[in-house]
Amino acid sequence: MKDLGICVLGAGDMGNAHLTAWAKVPAVRLVAVADVDESRAQAAGEKHSVAGWFTDIREAIAQDGIDVVSVCLPTCFHREATEAALRAGKDVLCEKPIALSVADAQAMIACRDETGRKLGIAFCKRHLGQLAKLRELLAEGALGRPVMYRMTGGMEIRFKPWIMARDGGGGPIIDLCCHYFDQWRWVFDAEPVRVMAMGMTFAQGAAELPGVDVQTDTATLCVEYSSGDVGVISLSWGLPRGTSAPGPEQVLGPLGVVAIEGFRNLKLTRKGGEERTFGDFDADLYGLQACAFAQAVREDRPPTTGAEDGLSALKVSLAVLESIEARRAVEIA
Ligand SMILES: NC(=O)c1ccc[n+]([C@@H]2O[C@H](COP(=O)([O-])OP(=O)(O)OC[C@H]3O[C@@H](n4cnc5c(N)ncnc54)[C@H](O)[C@@H]3O)[C@@H](O)[C@H]2O)c1
Repeated sequence: MKDLGICVLGAGDMGNAHLTAWAKVPAVRLVAVADVDESRAQAAGEKHSVAGWFTDIREAIAQDGIDVVSVCLPTCFHREATEAALRAGKDVLCEKPIALSVADAQAMIACRDETGRKLGIAFCKRHLGQLAKLRELLAEGALGRPVMYRMTGGMEIRFKPWIMARDGGGGPIIDLCCHYFDQWRWVFDAEPVRVMAMGMTFAQGAAELPGVDVQTDTATLCVEYSSGDVGVISLSWGLPRGTSAPGPEQVLGPLGVVAIEGFRNLKLTRKGGEERTFGDFDADLYGLQACAFAQAVREDRPPTTGAEDGLSALKVSLAVLESIEARRAVEIA
């Protein structure tokens, strides 16, 4: 088995999650971690026994023996970091969302093609056995078709200002909803064709976001797929401190309902109240993701989710924002 040297860029929540995940993969060496915040780089280096820690991403990438780079930086830096790693001859696993603009995502794809390296986008939920089972249930007609997959949720203003910012993380429609825009395409086995959305920004001017140009943080959106299936999200990341509005996640069809419970269980209910539970799926989505990317590199196969999947999800997010602004349905090119 080919030994893989790993470099992780960003030592925040996801950088640490990737380091933990990579440490579980057989025949992997943690070579470098970088963060502009020196104390974070050092803490992550020590916690995960990484050979070297750095404050400059290029210095980290240039260390000897690195094969794979995990990009775990705020989204606005994904293109710069990914291109630097690809051009240094590394395979890259970049956190979702791929980027904030189609132009950046396309430039990342062009750089991948030019360098001939791999570029995976970390849509970690694609590794959930729970969603694979849901996909199987829909394909075999357990709910009938078309279906409506709905998710609702509400959280207080996120504690990381960059994630709420138009030019940092792009707010929940780009940052969070991209998971759903990717998984819907997969579980429906269909392409997005049209979106309709309404939205607002609760957190603009909030005391905890000084000087931040807040992207739309509250929305209800519908995405129609080529299969006729519809995905619906109604959520907020702009609620005041101390409040939250968690909601259910379900798939509704003419023959029944599937309730999606956490990452581990599914409950199918059909006519007459007949119930079946599918459960105890492996929920270690970052560990599963690291193993799958290592396998793709070792066997020279495409990653589970690549840059085109990232671009597809981003186009839906941008269509949602356009629909909110224009107050009309938007077709997806
Ligand atoms: N897959 C998932 O489930 C999931 C969950 C959360 C976040 N994410 C994504 O992961 C990425 C990182 O999010 P996070 O939650 O870890 O953020 P974070 O704020 O916790 O960490 C980001 C780190 O990057 C560092 N940083 C910022 N600019 C830098 C630069 N120019 N050079 C070096 N370091 C720099 C910061 O100091 C910080 O430590 C985002 O794209 C986010 O959307 C994915």
